[in-house]
Amino acid sequence: MSDSDRNRLHRLATPGEAAAACGAAILEVLRAKIDRDGNATLAVSGGSTPRLMFDSMVKADFPWRRLHLFWVDERCVPPDHADSNYRMTREALLDQVEVGGIHRIEAELAPERAAETYRRDLKNHFSGEPKFTALHLGMGADAHTASLFPGLAAIEDRENIAEAVWVKKLNAHRITLLPKPILDAERIFVLATGPDKAEALHSVFRGPHTPRQLPIQIVKFHGRSVDWYLDVAAAEKL
Ligand code: 6PG
Repeated sequence: MSDSDRNRLHRLATPGEAAAACGAAILEVLRAKIDRDGNATLAVSGGSTPRLMFDSMVKADFPWRRLHLFWVDERCVPPDHADSNYRMTREALLDQVEVGGIHRIEAELAPERAAETYRRDLKNHFSGEPKFTALHLGMGADAHTASLFPGLAAIEDRENIAEAVWVKKLNAHRITLLPKPILDAERIFVLATGPDKAEALHSVFRGPHTPRQLPIQIVKFHGRSVDWYLDVAAAEKL
C-alpha cells in the first residue's frame, strides 16, 4: 500500500469546514461499524480545535447510544477544570447527546494511578488490546500528538497502551495513549488547522523520518489508514 493510499490529505478552505468534514467522516466510519456490529468506539483528543468538530457532529442524526467514547489523552486536572479535555468534550458534545459509554481518564487521581485505572478500563472494554473503530488526533505546532511531546521515550514504546508522562515544557504530567493503540485503530483522523501548524506539517511530510522530534510522524509512517483534515493555512507548505 503506497504512502498516499494510507495517508489521505483533505484540504478545506477554513477551520470550520475542515472540522465539519473531519467530523462527518468520523461519523460515517462509526455508523458503518454500528450497522455491522451494533456498536463502535471512538477516542478523541483535546485542545481547542476539536470543539469546532464536536459542534458540527452534534447536529448529525447519529445513533450515539451505540458509541463508547474514550480520550486519547488528558491533562492531570479535575474534570471540571478549565484545562480538562473531558470538560471541553462534555460542554461541546456530551451535554448535547447521550452516548452509550463514557470512559473518562480519571486525571484527578495521582498520575500513575490515573494511568493504571485507564489501562484497566481499556483492557476491560476491549477484552484485551484496545482497537478503536476511529481515533481522532490533533497536532501541536511542535508536531506533538496526543501527549507524545518531542523527546519523550514514550514515542518509541510499542508495547504498552497508556501511561503518565512528565512534559517538561509544560511542567506538568499528562495521561496519554501510547503509540500501539493509536496505530492499531481501524481509522485515524488528524484535524489540524491554522498557520501555526504549517511548518510542522511541512517537516512531517517533507522532512526526514525523525519521530522523536516530530511525534506525529509515527502516524504518518505507521498508521494503517490516516485521513488528514487541514485548512489551507495549515496545509500551506505541503
Ligand atoms: C491536548 C491534545 C493535544 C492537541 C494538540 C493540538 O490535550 O492538548 O490532546 O494533542 O491535540 O495540542 O491542540 P489544538 O487543537 O489546541 O491546536
